[in-house]
Amino acid sequence: MSKILVTSALPYINGVPHLGHMVGCLLPSDTYARFMRMMGNEVLYICGTDEHGTTSEVGALKAGMDVQAYCDMNHNRHAQTYKDFNLSFDFFGRTSTEENKEMTYHIFEQLDKNGFIAEKTVKQVYSVDDKMFLADRYIVGTCPYCGYDKARGDQCENCTKVLEPTELIDARSAVSGSKNLEVRETKHLFLNLPKIEDKLEAWLKTKEPFWPDVAYTIAKKWLKEGLQERCITRDLKWGFPVNKKGYEDKVFYVWFDAPIGYIGITKQWEEEKPQERNWKDWWLNPQNVRHVEFMGKDNVPYHSITFPATLLGTGENWTQVDFLKGMSYLTYEGGKFSKSEKRGIFAEDAVKEFPADYWRYWLMSNAPESSDSSFSWDLFAGAVNKDLNGVLGNFVSRVLKMTASKLGDKVPEGGENSKAENELIDVLQKRVNDYIKYMEEMEFRKALGELRAIWVEGNNYISAEEPWAVIKTDEQRAKVILRNCINLIRVYALLSAPIMPETSQKILDKLYTQPTLIKDFDVKKEMNFFKGGESFEVGDMLFERITPERVEELKTKYAGAK
Ligand code: 2FM
Ligand code: ZN
Repeated sequence: MSKILVTSALPYINGVPHLGHMVGCLLPSDTYARFMRMMGNEVLYICGTDEHGTTSEVGALKAGMDVQAYCDMNHNRHAQTYKDFNLSFDFFGRTSTEENKEMTYHIFEQLDKNGFIAEKTVKQVYSVDDKMFLADRYIVGTCPYCGYDKARGDQCENCTKVLEPTELIDARSAVSGSKNLEVRETKHLFLNLPKIEDKLEAWLKTKEPFWPDVAYTIAKKWLKEGLQERCITRDLKWGFPVNKKGYEDKVFYVWFDAPIGYIGITKQWEEEKPQERNWKDWWLNPQNVRHVEFMGKDNVPYHSITFPATLLGTGENWTQVDFLKGMSYLTYEGGKFSKSEKRGIFAEDAVKEFPADYWRYWLMSNAPESSDSSFSWDLFAGAVNKDLNGVLGNFVSRVLKMTASKLGDKVPEGGENSKAENELIDVLQKRVNDYIKYMEEMEFRKALGELRAIWVEGNNYISAEEPWAVIKTDEQRAKVILRNCINLIRVYALLSAPIMPETSQKILDKLYTQPTLIKDFDVKKEMNFFKGGESFEVGDMLFERITPERVEELKTKYAGAK
């Protein structure tokens, strides 16, 4: 059994997660964590809200709330949404805690002691009308590199280039829109990335064969362009006050303490059960832990360059990222999700419209892995109606109903498998091996393609063997076919569990059986799990069809302001 540490990028506290966020890191990480647990590994799956920075101050200001109270409220809102999506975090914490503060202070002190912190007086943008320094995301303007006119002061989301706010052309305040901006001098601390560059490059080389292209290409591009010193402090009130003389009135930059938050949150997790848990077993144990990180591609530079360099600079034996799964973007009906324009469906509404598994299935089947993908209601309804209802749901209900009505509510007994079953088992074993391989490699679209193909094999089998016709002349043969089909239903439930946990449990409940591990999955053995005589219940249909009328209704409802 291996120890696998899974982290999902920590969502900004003030944002409302939309489907793009769900598929960008939360669902793939959950699917992977669930899968790896089912493969018999010891998994620790960590996430939480990223709470510092100007965004929280501005969000609280707009809501007329104290920042702490604002964060408390939004943290609960995030936690509830993720619970509704059945995300199986071992702990969902926060970055603004005492635990994370301690961790941030410790890491900063090590960096400072080792000479990786530089002090500089810089020119920073001050908004006279907003009466505040406008850092990072709260200055918008035109990107000097690609010309994108809504680039933020910290990063251009179009070309992913990390920016200094003063580089923006035609800059304005994102808080008020005011262009009454002044550049003022202020003293700040910098992480001396050029000094860590060699070490970082050597470390990154060890990852080359393992990282997917999206992540590795971005990291290499950064290194090629040469690393710059990165400012790690800000003139704000909300954040961890800097633990260095002369800087006490400043706070650490949100991107400094956010990734440290993964560790701080693990400390929170430890404190729930200090006798059983130890954060160091995960974070200071690189030889025995495989660390897999999930994030949108805009987060890749921070996780492949800045954060690893931060940890390297401490000189301590931290667990670094072993595999970085960077995801592209999901668009909504070909355009952008927009909270302000109410365009697109947000996660908390999504689960009010349809059960979480419908979303989990569609989003993971269409995960933007190698390039962007687009959500559309037509595609969504098509997948729910065709794959979930037409293939999986229909097979389960057809088999159980037929068996119950013709032979009673026990798994049919007797008879031997024939050539058809042996062939089915061979085909399934190959597909299951591929499914497991793709899931291990986090090639989710391919994995879901195999899962779908596994469901289809069942339909092909029953269509070819026609138990409804065979039963009229050879009841024993019909019993063999239906027993195989019921075993197949259990196989479906087990394999589908990481993606559709609720559906999987519903199926297992129908069969009065429990989830099991899928490690070394031997189809022949699993297809002989029910030997005959076990009870089952037909129960309800697993999925509901989405009508064309409903699709039109949803398109209008989430189209946004015209
Ligand atoms: O993009 C985001 O939502 C960031 N809050 C991700 C931070 S990930 C980690 F570093 F905390
Ligand atoms: Zn740009």
